[in-house]
Amino acid sequence: MDSPVRVLVLVALFFPVFVDCAIRHYKFNVVMKNTTRLCSSKPIVTVNGKFPGPTLYAREDDTVLVKVVNHVKYNVSIHWHGIRQLRTGWADGPAYITQCPIPTGQSYVYNFTITGQRGTLLWHAHILWLRSTVHGALVILPKRGVPYPFPKPNKEVVVVLAEWWKSDTEVVINEAIKSGLAPNVSDAHTINGHPGRIPGCPTQRGFKLPVESGKTYLLRLINAALNEELFFKVAGHKLTVVEVDATYVKPFKIDTIVIAPGQTTNVLVSADKRSGKYMVAASPFMDAPVQVDNVTATATLHYSGTLGNVATTLTAPPPKNATAVANSFIDSLRSLNSKLFPVLVPQEIDHDLYFTVGLGINPCPTCKAGNGSRVVAAINNVTFVMPTTAILQAHYFNISGVFTADFPSKPPHVFNYTGTPPANLQTRNGTKVFRLAYNSTVQLVLQDTGIIAPENHPVHLHGFNFFAVGKGLGNYNPKTDPQTFNLVDPVERNTIGVPSGGWVAIRFRADNPGVWFMHCHLEVHTTWGLKMAFLVDNGKGPNQSVLPPPNDLPKC
Ligand code: C2O
Repeated sequence: MDSPVRVLVLVALFFPVFVDCAIRHYKFNVVMKNTTRLCSSKPIVTVNGKFPGPTLYAREDDTVLVKVVNHVKYNVSIHWHGIRQLRTGWADGPAYITQCPIPTGQSYVYNFTITGQRGTLLWHAHILWLRSTVHGALVILPKRGVPYPFPKPNKEVVVVLAEWWKSDTEVVINEAIKSGLAPNVSDAHTINGHPGRIPGCPTQRGFKLPVESGKTYLLRLINAALNEELFFKVAGHKLTVVEVDATYVKPFKIDTIVIAPGQTTNVLVSADKRSGKYMVAASPFMDAPVQVDNVTATATLHYSGTLGNVATTLTAPPPKNATAVANSFIDSLRSLNSKLFPVLVPQEIDHDLYFTVGLGINPCPTCKAGNGSRVVAAINNVTFVMPTTAILQAHYFNISGVFTADFPSKPPHVFNYTGTPPANLQTRNGTKVFRLAYNSTVQLVLQDTGIIAPENHPVHLHGFNFFAVGKGLGNYNPKTDPQTFNLVDPVERNTIGVPSGGWVAIRFRADNPGVWFMHCHLEVHTTWGLKMAFLVDNGKGPNQSVLPPPNDLPKC
């Protein structure tokens, strides 16, 4: 007979087993919400009425089930940016790549398990420009009982950086597509949804982070902006960087970090002052002749016991073209490379790939503003055309005519990529993927081009983390540059900036079967076609195939 005592003992015995690989249920209602920012109010697309959206908490090894219900007029899909989605590409989220989007009035349950990952990531809409307001933090705690590899902070705070647009971003991008010209930029940046006091809206209060003297805070920084890389700093306080893109790094101290859309950075801040108020600033980084939103977002670090009328200690953000400030952060990043968190950078390479990333100009008879031409973007001169059936479905069910597997492994025309552009700036259109055998190793050199202008491109790869083994200015030299590669403790991430007028080399192992999108995380460049996908074949082993799709997978 089951006595209450026996039940209690059983619960005590089994509870730890359950919590170590819990199932977390979330419900995301995609709804319109009237929000006030910049002294005006307007309806925006949100998850559960929040901007930024709700933080999703999970633990390493957890299975996460998120039911997304679409109540807005747009088709919707959600991406769990940086989650590896081992064999579960159906839950990755990019519309028409791994799934058809969720139509108005319908729902879809994203079902995935978090394996071998812990740290800060983000989730965001992966269709149209809805990501501008449909985004939030994804916090993966370490397994129960496993400590951080750095001193435990007294408190953790999620800090989401983003943009605020006075206009509807769908209208902005649709007008740009019609004209063939670049879209407008945002009107302000935000820190946890608030721009702080800014010109034209001086009464706007910014986000306030209360701190206590002597305590340490872990800031989980996320850049959820559409089109802007950002500098982030706190007046009078150093930042100790401990993690990027949910991978631990060797801790280092710095004044200013740079964070591209899609990237995340965890920093420790010691509240080592007695009292006071200190400005927190987020401002754009753009070292190319490209227009940006130059409005600095501000927040306040507010020591407890400090009166409201005490003057805030200010800080000046770096100028937007401060490449040296950005590089001093980027070049300090090294993988932790500890016993528990080893660096598994491939030492032998099966696929040696060289991809140019940049812009182009194609004819467009209807583009009046663009004088009969339009700005496009491309990888290896291929401007990616979105299919109307998801590529993963086409692959899994053998539907022909959706994509071709002939994405070029190197640029089709050799030219001085970072020098004077060629006379012909036209690109080819195509829905091309690059096919990889299961478990093959890849070295990919991403080369910026100077077509229109050299520019920093934060390139994101779905389905994998990669190691950033090298970078340089000018054109990559396959003979001499590999000698400079760091194959010992390169930083591991999922989104990497290709330097303006330069290149970056990454390595990864294709140990995740499926279809994996790779694109510039500046949304304007994604729209223009700076995107492609890798198709990774199934392996022969028992756990090396794409799992069957869930029953509620939306149809196109
Ligand atoms: Cu965060 Cu394909 O994107």
